Amino acid sequence: MNEIVGRGKWATKAGFVLAAAGSAVGLGNLWKFPYMAGENGGAAFVFVYLLLLVLIGMTVMLAELTVGRHTQLDALGAYKKLSAKWAWVGGMGVLCAFLIMAFYTVVGGWAIKYFVASCTNAVAGIDFGAFITAPMEPLVYTLVFCVLTWIIVYYGIGGGIEKASKIMMPLLFIFIVIIAIRSCTLPGAGAGLNYYLNPDLSKIDGGVILAAMGQVFFSLSLGMGCMITYGSYLGEDSSLTQSSWMIPGLDTAIAFLAGLAIFPAVFAFGMEPGSGPGLMFATLPQVFDKMPAGEIFATIFFLLVIFAALTSAISLLEVVTAYLVDEKSVKRGGASILGIIGIFILAIPCSLSMGSLANVHIIPEIASMNIPAMGFFDAFDFITSKLMLPLGGLMLCIFVGWVWGTDKAINEITDGGLTSFPLAGIWSILVKYIAPVAIFLVFLSGFGVI
Ligand code: TRP
Repeated sequence: MNEIVGRGKWATKAGFVLAAAGSAVGLGNLWKFPYMAGENGGAAFVFVYLLLLVLIGMTVMLAELTVGRHTQLDALGAYKKLSAKWAWVGGMGVLCAFLIMAFYTVVGGWAIKYFVASCTNAVAGIDFGAFITAPMEPLVYTLVFCVLTWIIVYYGIGGGIEKASKIMMPLLFIFIVIIAIRSCTLPGAGAGLNYYLNPDLSKIDGGVILAAMGQVFFSLSLGMGCMITYGSYLGEDSSLTQSSWMIPGLDTAIAFLAGLAIFPAVFAFGMEPGSGPGLMFATLPQVFDKMPAGEIFATIFFLLVIFAALTSAISLLEVVTAYLVDEKSVKRGGASILGIIGIFILAIPCSLSMGSLANVHIIPEIASMNIPAMGFFDAFDFITSKLMLPLGGLMLCIFVGWVWGTDKAINEITDGGLTSFPLAGIWSILVKYIAPVAIFLVFLSGFGVI
């Protein structure tokens, strides 16, 4: 992106919020949030998600942005500058970006397939299961998604993306509201609303809590230095506190609406809420089918999904690229190519694990820790969302709370005492004690220790 190439500053405050929101809002909201909720008890999951969003998500968001603005460096550089011993946490973030991209680009490819099909009014006819289990076709679409991501990062057309975001993001919002209204007014939608909004608290167990925590980190792009990097392009005139609730607020609104668009339809059409990663792709075409001009609507919607996925993917490829440029002295062009080639190579087994490699498990079943056997796609998702991102967040809280120190952090947040931060005391307690202890406890309960 332009801003990132020259280590510039965000031109406007809105530009930063848009870019950071662009990173946060993506497949995590539209595709992952609904299917995770569906697999984890519906409203019970939503309830835990909202709780952890406030307790951990917003706390870590402010901490990451603050470290970024203070050091004006990328994730690894930021840790190195403040304390060399902590550089590995930044390094873990780079690895994380790689692993996330490996399955993210596969799902981005699925969205492109649906967009292409909708252009010829063929979206309702796609057999999702047959499509993703085929060896070649999904890989071709994954490659297309990779190339699109790479073009944006390589040609530094972030400025154009920023301008396009100003139209696409509000449009995405309006579209989801319209789809949600159609979905909620389908005959039989009530059962879906009940499933999605009326929590059965007895369904909450360690697995649900760990899934919700992982989803908070994934959806907000936290725990691997993405927001440190974005924060590093912020100038002194920006409000860190405002960003740290506006970005999560926007992100959560879109995820919530995606659930409102999907669950009523799931129940209205007699589908299974826990059917996994195919949920959005199987449900929404049926909703479009019941709308006037549904095919045109589908085309624009899947275009918006691709756009949202791309603005997230560029933030992930950027982490890998910045690392190769800053730490390995690779030129920017070569770095972005190396990064995307490595990502595509890892994406191949991810895509194949839907079909021909379905029986290859890279993580074995560990029943005593609630860990099922997993193939490439599921394993990369599991390792990043449920392990590395929360661990990165835990380390960041300890780092800001105890190593760098909340006094210095608050000094940065308030521009040296010039602006007010009424919640400084509460945030200090959250960063030093509550968030790290909560993350640790969620790990323990998620893996069956307590
Ligand atoms: N948050 C994005 C989404 O919801 C994905 C993403 C972008 C991400 N950057 C990240 C996830 C960094 C974790 C860490 O689609």
